[in-house]
Formats: sequence, structure tokens, C-alpha cells
Amino acid sequence: MKATISIMATAIVLASGTPILAQDAARGEDLFQVCAACHSLTAGENIIGPSLAGVIGRPAADLADFEYSDAMKGSGLTWDEETLLLYIAEAQVLVPDTSMAFPGVGDAQDAADIVEFLATQ
Ligand code: HEC
Repeated sequence: MKATISIMATAIVLASGTPILAQDAARGEDLFQVCAACHSLTAGENIIGPSLAGVIGRPAADLADFEYSDAMKGSGLTWDEETLLLYIAEAQVLVPDTSMAFPGVGDAQDAADIVEFLATQ
């Protein structure tokens, strides 16, 4: 009986902690190629966009050696899974006038996988 209760409790915790979309970092790594034209995952290496090394948990516009838009500098955002999902889906909606010229990842599963991959970097 005790075991049953603890299994049930575990199942409830797992169920409530499961995101709506199961995320797949390996798939996200492939999908990241659309970002890689502009973003490196090496710290200190900025291309057209800023390096995304360690981006999760980083405040927006935090790299001293990258010239961000005023919109990004004033956004007050911190990059977590939620803000990243919104930004890569519709950058101009989350940060109006951002200089990231990217149409957005239209597919929610693709976006979730890219964010999961970034979380491993
Ligand atoms: C055409 C080039 C380009 C592409 C493609 C692109 N970005 Fe960007 N990205 C930028 C630029 C430029 C900025 C700086 C935006 C600003 O200052 O407003 C930026 C900013 C960002 C930031 C904010 C970083 C920070 O330090 O605050 C994140 C996060 C980001 N991009 C993620 C992505 C992801 C994930 C993808 C792929 C799904 C992607 N970008 C695709 C050019 C690009």
C-alpha cells in the first residue's frame, strides 16, 4: 500500500512537471542550424547575432562586446525557456524593434526542441 502511494505520488509529480511538448535536444541541435548562420555557441564569438553560449539564465543584451538594439537593451528580459520560446517564435512581438531579422520558428515543437538544446549548452 505504501509503495502504491509513493508510486502514485511520483507519477503525479512527473505528470505535473512534464511540459506540454516533450522536448528533444538532439533534434533541437539539428534545428539550431537555422540560428547558427547568425549565432555561435562559443563564448565571445559574435557573428551577426550575439554568442548564445550559456544564454539560459542570462539577462537580455548582457554581452559587453555586442552592439544590441536599443529595444533589446531596454527589454528588461532574462532568457529562460519561456522568454526564449516567445522570442524565437515571434521576436518582434516580444521585443518590438529588435534587430534580429528572423521570421521566427513557426512550429511549436521545433521551437521547444531548439530551446531544450540551448539549455544543454
Ligand atoms: C539573421 C540573423 C539571425 C538569425 C537567423 C537568428 N538570430 Fe538571434 N539575434 C540576431 C541579432 C542581430 C540579435 C540581436 C538583437 C537585438 O539586439 O535586438 C539576436 C539576438 C538573439 C537573442 C538575444 C541574445 C542576448 O544576448 O540578449 C537570442 C536569445 C537569440 N537571438 C536567439 C536566436 C535563436 C534561438 C535563433 C534560431 C531559432 C536565432 N536567434 C536566429 C540575429 C539572428
